[in-house]
Amino acid sequence: MHSYIPSDQLTEAERESIRLSDRLVKQLFAADIIVIGAPLINFTIHSALKAWIDHITRAGITFGYGENGPIGKVTGKKVYVAMSSGGVYSEGPGKANDFVAPYLKAFLGFLGMTDLTVFRAEGLKVPGIKDYAFDKAIKSIKIH
Ligand SMILES: Cc1cc2nc3c(=O)[nH]c(=O)nc-3n(C[C@H](O)[C@H](O)[C@H](O)COP(=O)(O)O)c2cc1C
Repeated sequence: MHSYIPSDQLTEAERESIRLSDRLVKQLFAADIIVIGAPLINFTIHSALKAWIDHITRAGITFGYGENGPIGKVTGKKVYVAMSSGGVYSEGPGKANDFVAPYLKAFLGFLGMTDLTVFRAEGLKVPGIKDYAFDKAIKSIKIH
């Protein structure tokens, strides 16, 4: 897969990182449906998910720039994001800190994955909400 720096100018660790990135990009292009687990960690996505995003974000391969701005090249995918959180972020006072769903929508959209559906199991640590949070999440799931 195309890389901006010739392979012989890279360290073994860098070559290893590009091999992993190439593998993840191939896997992504081969998928029709992508399911992402996104439990909230300190108001954001977990570090493994961020690492995956960094590995699949490849200039000239998964995105590019045209005269009218960025062009996402990972198109034709259906993406489901399964979020879970101790608190509630879809409504109420927590909504001001609802960073994960907007971030994933924006960034995966930048790569061309614009058909994204988010499900949330939220309030899993909140007394009075946690008892029915999971049932509510299951009932909200509509696959299309
Ligand atoms: C290190 C750590 C940080 C977390 N940060 C948040 C957070 O910022 N907001 C939140 O609502 N939940 C947070 N949680 C709770 C997780 O999102 C929750 O545990 C996860 O969604 C899975 O739910 P479960 O513990 O009921 O299996 C955190 C959990 C851990 C372990």
